[in-house]
Amino acid sequence: MKVLFAILLLFFIASPSLVKINAANDLCFNVFQYGAKGDGVADDSNAFLKAWQDVCAAEDTPTLFIPDGSTFMLQPVSFSGPCKSATVNVVLEGTLLAPGSVENWDWTTSRNTEAWIQFRHINGLVVYGGGTIDGQGAPWWIKYGKNDQDRPRALQFSGCDNLQLAGLTHVNSPKNHISIDSCNGVAVSDLYITAPESSPNTDGIDIASSSNVFIDRLKIATGDDCIAINSGSKFINISDISCGPGHGISIGSLGKHGEFGSVEEIYVKRCTFQGTTNGVRIKTCPGGTGYAKKITYEDINIVGGYNPVIIDQAYEGSIDDLKRESLKVSDVTLRNIRGTTNDKESITLNCASVGCTNIVLEDININSVNGESSASCINVQGTCNSCNPTVSCLN
Ligand SMILES: *[C@@H]1O[C@H](CO)[C@@H](O)[C@H](O)[C@H]1NC(C)=O
Repeated sequence: MKVLFAILLLFFIASPSLVKINAANDLCFNVFQYGAKGDGVADDSNAFLKAWQDVCAAEDTPTLFIPDGSTFMLQPVSFSGPCKSATVNVVLEGTLLAPGSVENWDWTTSRNTEAWIQFRHINGLVVYGGGTIDGQGAPWWIKYGKNDQDRPRALQFSGCDNLQLAGLTHVNSPKNHISIDSCNGVAVSDLYITAPESSPNTDGIDIASSSNVFIDRLKIATGDDCIAINSGSKFINISDISCGPGHGISIGSLGKHGEFGSVEEIYVKRCTFQGTTNGVRIKTCPGGTGYAKKITYEDINIVGGYNPVIIDQAYEGSIDDLKRESLKVSDVTLRNIRGTTNDKESITLNCASVGCTNIVLEDININSVNGESSASCINVQGTCNSCNPTVSCLN
């Protein structure tokens, strides 16, 4: 027994990554122990699910360990809780790979067809490790185009309180890369998310019905919103994001099909929008109800691209729709937003007739590549302190 212990001890000391993991965690469940092949071809889903059963049943901070240097092909999988331990680690050092063609996706072991990899109802989930999640989206983009109902997202966290996600690379999701819904207490940091600029609806991160979400130090270059903050989101802090190409960091769209939408207490700071079709964006659909309030964007750098600052309450409608019922947009502060856009118009505030109120702009300096830029606004009440371009309807 003593000899075995000594051998194990030596093994851990000799292997730095294992030392790190085992120092923090009592129990490590390696997917290879459950029959995973890690050759990028064989279906490793069942091995992962079997390992997950043991992880989820273990006490004392277990770890699902996915080693470096291997690629694991997974069919759609759902890792479900609640789990026994208050903290559950997933250490992803290797690569997770989706099936290579739409026809080869097999949904039989998953609970839903909305996500490739889903984590649900797991509190204290910590996912990290430097690995890659490759959604092999290209055949989906070709087959379905903009028709996003038919495409799955790559990674979904649903009902996971006290979630941490850090240090991974996410590439080529069939739809949005990461979806966070119904989670309270989330920390996301140091991710790299990338898909081609032309890929449809490949948002970086979508947040909905979640609160106390902290997102920090991401590099996102995809075909749609870098981050989208959807209904039911509140107390969301986002900082140090490099976004582009992409569609900016968006609130909404809210109020689609006449729905109620609500978003409040959103703080976005120290972000760069490089070559994005939009930058700072709030979008609501005509006919919706609810509100978007207490929103601050500050210390924003604009490098090329279009629509650097836009509130659009006629989203997916026309300018005539601004007369219709609408969500209320209020208490929005845009501070220290600088740079150069490819657009002639750099600030667009298209508010519904109910009006956007207390819209505060401070230290805005946005030029167009062709010289000065312009601003337009409808139904806006607020102030502008040191604004280039000047915004005529603000005091
Ligand atoms: C979130 O941002 C707001 C505004 O900058 C700040 O007051 C608050 O302390 C931040 N929350 C955390 C936990 O960092």
